[in-house]
Amino acid sequence: MRQGPILILGAGGQVGTELRRTFADAGELVAWDRRIADLSRPEELRLLVRQLQPAVILNAAAYTAVDRAEVEPEVAMTINGDAPRVLAEEAVKLDALLVHYSTDYVFDGSKKMPWVESDETTPLNAYGRTKLAGEHGIQSVGGKYLIFRTSWVYGPHGHNFLRTMLRLGQDREQLKIVDDQFGAPTSSSAIAEATRTIVDKVKLATPEYGVYHMTCAGETTWCGFAQGIFSQHQQQNGETVPQVIPIPSSEYPTPAARPANSVLSNDKLHAHFGIALPDWRSALLATMKKIGSECAERK
Ligand SMILES: NC(=O)c1ccc[n+]([C@@H]2O[C@H](COP(=O)([O-])OP(=O)(O)OC[C@H]3O[C@@H](n4cnc5c(N)ncnc54)[C@H](OP(=O)(O)O)[C@@H]3O)[C@@H](O)[C@H]2O)c1
Repeated sequence: MRQGPILILGAGGQVGTELRRTFADAGELVAWDRRIADLSRPEELRLLVRQLQPAVILNAAAYTAVDRAEVEPEVAMTINGDAPRVLAEEAVKLDALLVHYSTDYVFDGSKKMPWVESDETTPLNAYGRTKLAGEHGIQSVGGKYLIFRTSWVYGPHGHNFLRTMLRLGQDREQLKIVDDQFGAPTSSSAIAEATRTIVDKVKLATPEYGVYHMTCAGETTWCGFAQGIFSQHQQQNGETVPQVIPIPSSEYPTPAARPANSVLSNDKLHAHFGIALPDWRSALLATMKKIGSECAERK
């Protein structure tokens, strides 16, 4: 791989934050957030990347507000669809590796088994359509790219289901949570660590570039995820936790439709890179311990 800086885009997001930590000792690291590199202005982004001449681009920036994307699909398309293609074009010119993240929401949820990379993509919502456009944009350019589709991302910082549950659990006795959508909660740190391992491997040997699924192992529903969170919270803190009541999606309508099954098979990732992310329960435990110790440090 060519020598040069490693560029992280979306450095303030969940995955971006963990990438900064995980790549801290990987060489010259340049971390840009939206204030420096705005993906809604792809041509400005192009010039910034051209000036920096990174050897690796880790693109963790995205328009991730799934429901809001229904009402502003054009903005989401520029950030999720157009900007990744521009990054791929610049990566090819620089002979750089482009790592990009995509989503389980490219699938319609109709399959009964875990989805594999070659399955047909039929997104149910605007966010999924814009992320799929980003994948297609990168693929149309080609070059050295890895697209990692992940799912149900959470971590100690940012907006995510884990933090929402912990906040709501403070003053609610009951929480009704959807129990008919299946997926794999995936911690931002597990994604960042897997990415680091893979980038290190790419330095030594040319991989098969393309799309890979990258999620924590196992599967659950949002309700199962909530139960896992509260059971761990109770063990850690001894506090009373709310009763989690399973409901069907029909009782919790959202502007954007979600797939019923978005569990992704990670077999390709394992076969090509020899890695597997931890089971979602152990990744959750590790994240909640981290949140606990950060809280203790602040006191
Ligand atoms: N979150 C999930 O559940 C999930 C599921 C599947 C796949 N993914 C994918 O995983 C990747 C990482 O997501 P994440 O969970 O880390 O999301 P996140 O926490 O929402 O982070 C996304 C980052 O992108 C930044 N961003 C948004 N618009 C931007 C713009 N115009 N220019 C530059 N930066 C911009 C955000 O900045 P601001 O904070 O300033 O808005 C934020 O720092 C994304 O590709 C996402 O599509 C996420």
